[in-house]
Amino acid sequence: MDSIASSPSKPRSAREASSRPRPATRRVGILGVGSYAPERVLTNDDLERMVDTSDEWIQTRTGMRERRIAAPGQATSDLALVAAETALQRAGLAASALDVILVATVTPDHVCPATACHLQRKLGATRAAGFDISVACTGFVNALMTGHSFLASGTFSNALVIGADTLSTITNYEDRESCVLFGDGAGAVVLSASSEGAQVIDHVVGIDGGGAEMIIVPAGGSLRPASHETVDNHEHALKLQGRKVFRFAVTKFAEVLKQITARNDYALDDIDLVIPHQANLRILEAAADRVGLPMEKMFVNIDRYGNTSSASIPLALDDAYRQGRLERGKLVALVGFGGGLSWGASLIRW
Ligand code: ACO
Repeated sequence: MDSIASSPSKPRSAREASSRPRPATRRVGILGVGSYAPERVLTNDDLERMVDTSDEWIQTRTGMRERRIAAPGQATSDLALVAAETALQRAGLAASALDVILVATVTPDHVCPATACHLQRKLGATRAAGFDISVACTGFVNALMTGHSFLASGTFSNALVIGADTLSTITNYEDRESCVLFGDGAGAVVLSASSEGAQVIDHVVGIDGGGAEMIIVPAGGSLRPASHETVDNHEHALKLQGRKVFRFAVTKFAEVLKQITARNDYALDDIDLVIPHQANLRILEAAADRVGLPMEKMFVNIDRYGNTSSASIPLALDDAYRQGRLERGKLVALVGFGGGLSWGASLIRW
């Protein structure tokens, strides 16, 4: 018998490796969705009183009118809890039936332990494993892909997938270029290994650390631990190279949407609704224009919530659900892009 070492298999080309999804062994459905945004509203008028900006500038450059801000002491797991309870209730599933909790976030309650652990305790999800996933605005797509894989492969049967962030805790409210953009929120989906519910089809994801500096919290990690100096310099807040991110986002959005439809043998026209990461209305308009997608097929709620990073896609998904835009049979694409740099898309038959 040949040893593994003596018979190296032929390396697959990049094209072969990315052309087809691997067949899933079990079907996976979304049984429930939910979301939560904190009560406190931060309007453009409020921001006018804080930095040198105007409602007119913010609306024309971003499409944002207001965003929600967590109350003092209200952590990411608190926002996630309300979203999760709604999703579980709509799914008709008890928290004790969950096998795994996946929390996409860049603003965990603590560096250690994972926010998934806090959420597990608050929910009473006594049987669940769990962990956090940190891929900024593409976090939810990555978490959904992970949950889908666990269920399709038979590792677990029921998963809670969350996107939650309190970006207000990493925002410098003296920096007008970034502070107008961000808000807080959470969204959740309950996944089950089942042919019931909205069927999760496929995912495309990627990262490019070459663009890490474009969206970064410079301090607070192992490279530059917290110090008086880092606090004084606002190095624990998000720093952006907005114009560069803008160009990247438009290009990648078009690329991943084309990729996920083509490799599942759909045309772009077959997509009924795109639920994008809500970064900037102009990014979404430019991306839609680039792929020839009518704006009516692009779900937008950025005017009310701003950019909520990991929460943005599931918050919009629940909004679309509540507005009756997720009718049975619709082909829905989730598209994320952001810090990392990172990008990704998921395809779902509702
Ligand atoms: N109010 C008034 N003027 C402003 C503001 C503000 N809030 N912010 C910037 N300006 C000024 C700039 O100083 C500049 O002035 P200048 O011409 O005198 O130099 C002018 O407005 C134009 O600035 P631009 O950066 O060219 O504005 P642009 O049209 O690119 O819009 C924006 C900026 C909104 C940031 C846009 O580039 C964008 O949305 N980029 C992507 C956002 C992003 O990075 N998203 C990812 C976030 S990370 C995460 O989600 C975790």
